[in-house]
Amino acid sequence: MKALHVGLVGMGTVGAGVAKILLEKNSPLLEKLDCIPVLKGIADSNPEAKNKINIPSNVLFTADARELVNHPDIQIIVELIGGLHPAKEIITLALENGKDVVTANKMLLALHGSELFQKARQHGKSISFEASVGGGIPVIAALRDGFIANRIESICGIVNGTTNYILTKMTKEQVTYSDALAEAQKLGYAEKDPTMDVEGIDASHKLAILARIGFGVDFDYNSIYHEGISTVDLSDIWYARELGYTLKLLAIAKKGENTIELRVHPTLLPHEHPLSSVHGVFNAVCITGSAVGDAMLYGRGAGQMPTASAVVADLVDVALGRAGITFAAMKTFSGCSERFPIANALQFKTCYYLRFSVVDKPGVLAKITGILGKYEISIASVIQHKAREAGNVPLVMMTHLAEEGNLQKALVEIQQLDVIKDHTKFLRVEE
Ligand code: HSE
Repeated sequence: MKALHVGLVGMGTVGAGVAKILLEKNSPLLEKLDCIPVLKGIADSNPEAKNKINIPSNVLFTADARELVNHPDIQIIVELIGGLHPAKEIITLALENGKDVVTANKMLLALHGSELFQKARQHGKSISFEASVGGGIPVIAALRDGFIANRIESICGIVNGTTNYILTKMTKEQVTYSDALAEAQKLGYAEKDPTMDVEGIDASHKLAILARIGFGVDFDYNSIYHEGISTVDLSDIWYARELGYTLKLLAIAKKGENTIELRVHPTLLPHEHPLSSVHGVFNAVCITGSAVGDAMLYGRGAGQMPTASAVVADLVDVALGRAGITFAAMKTFSGCSERFPIANALQFKTCYYLRFSVVDKPGVLAKITGILGKYEISIASVIQHKAREAGNVPLVMMTHLAEEGNLQKALVEIQQLDVIKDHTKFLRVEE
């Protein structure tokens, strides 16, 4: 049995899961392979991390990651500390020292992927990152290997479990955003500071990685449009349901002739769309390819053992020599500096959900639709329930396909009308 020695940097939740799998006596890896990754050392700045699992005496434990990164008997470094620094420096040093790298660090890859991929190629080494998107779902492998024969046309998914949990709770139990968030925090799904998840930043990091692998292009991460769920109102979930739609936070990548649309935002999906039935902390990604057509991958997008499963799959890829071959041969990892143009929000074209707050009197609808018509925006359906008491009423509309630039201009004009009583809410729709 051949072995490749692994240095594990970061003994957090996922790190402990990886160590558990690698140290398992009756590991499935032993049954299936004749070359396996073997845990040689663990680094974590917190000495308490040592007590998370039973670490055998032949596995080095250190507070200093450099001890593993400079260790002559370690061939693979697994980076699981997250964040930009010192993760970037650890990975860079590992590559310079001739070690392959496995990481789950989506933020680092989204922001500095090109530079790190270039560094890996310079040193003839690989970076594997299956665990960076979709936890245990092998979506990177699917895009990189399984769908290689396809021109990828679109990637559309629920890639953040925290926000999907919150939206599911709001939808099914009719609780407000703040109550659903508090519950997610209590259950450990949301961080104390939930910004990265609820503002769509985590999903935009993952989208950057998926689009890069799927479309084989490089682009500026900052050009990705992202909007989170913190301003989602329960009433929009109700009206959407009445219109036949479910509200989800989607990460969407679509390749056009000359530009790519990359956007993360709350989205209305028809109830019968497969992503509408993805509930709780689950993730799912729909991929449309020129040969395969529509495909969907579904599973646990986070959590200790699902994410560890993806990390160990990468380790096996390195141990078997597959990661090195793929990394060297695929243009996707070339770190080429040529950037592909990304569409800005005004160029998006979707159907829209609009919720106006209006005074309930004759002629209001005509005033609003008059302005929408002027900007080529056609109405598909309207809901206005009878006001229970005197005052403002919500007026909800669904439009046909429209250009967002036109919609923005129309909304500015509509907002000036004296019959409009509050900020107008709009949500994008995917059919
Ligand atoms: N915070 C992420 C989520 C999990 O809620 O999906 C790690 O990627």
